[in-house]
Amino acid sequence: MSDIYYNYKGTLFSPVATSAEDLSFVENEFQVLDDDIFNITYPKSGTSWMIEILSLILKNGDPTWIKTVPNWERAPWLEIVGCAKNLQLSKERPRLITSHLPRHIFTKTFEGSNAKVIYTIRDPKDTAVSLYYFSKMYVCYKDPNSIDDFLKDYLVGNLSRGSWFSHVKGWMKLMGQDNFMFHTYEDLQKDLRGSVMKICKFLGKELDDKAVDSVVANVSFENMKENNMSNFTRLPNHFMDLDKSPFMRKGIVGDWKNHFTVAQNEYFDKIYKAEMQDFPVKFPWDES
Ligand code: A3P
Repeated sequence: MSDIYYNYKGTLFSPVATSAEDLSFVENEFQVLDDDIFNITYPKSGTSWMIEILSLILKNGDPTWIKTVPNWERAPWLEIVGCAKNLQLSKERPRLITSHLPRHIFTKTFEGSNAKVIYTIRDPKDTAVSLYYFSKMYVCYKDPNSIDDFLKDYLVGNLSRGSWFSHVKGWMKLMGQDNFMFHTYEDLQKDLRGSVMKICKFLGKELDDKAVDSVVANVSFENMKENNMSNFTRLPNHFMDLDKSPFMRKGIVGDWKNHFTVAQNEYFDKIYKAEMQDFPVKFPWDES
């Protein structure tokens, strides 16, 4: 285990932005409200993209909120120090809440509530590449020496927020519940407008065509890259060093092909197959 992380109930976290005390508060005391909307992801799966989509849907396509308020204030990360306690005091309704927490340590009061979860999943190979670059520039994550070293940790969950496999398997147990919706980063890439409309339906929000057009236009990679409320350029350099890698890096499907060697890909496939062979859902990347 890396010495830059601590272990909370089997999952690793960085002490720079989280604490065991706050995690325990989130898990055991945080009060979920029935109109809460949770944006849940494994890191680098499209979290900030979904914040932008949800922010615009909640404002009927009006971009004022996304242009004036940083995404971490619009949809705070539940497990970051102090966030859950601040959310508890917030008068904002509905609350838009982001989290990378695995299901087994997610807040207990979610159980039995009508709060909605939107779970975004990305090809674990592209997630790995994105996380590799992010880990080089983000102070909370261990700087990987090489993709080879990184993949060894990634594939066994020896990194912040644990394993992609247990994250996905844990959250996908909610499949079939009315208050749970999942989709993939690849779905967003393939049919953004259709995905936005599905999310609106799930949230019970009726947007006219013009409002949907505005959501779609404002969440393009190019527009988000330019929006300093969404591209993390407002954070200090010692926290996220965007000179090492921009947050809005490439935003494409299949970048792993530019990074993995044949041996790394075979190693990945072997572990993926062992972990996911009995999984009931087939994802877009399973077909290729
Ligand atoms: P890459 O590093 O592959 O470019 P998260 O928000 O979960 O941290 O994920 C960040 C990843 O999502 C980055 O991937 C980023 O470029 C990508 N991303 C963010 N907004 C996007 C958008 N509007 N369109 C496509 N990809 C986007």
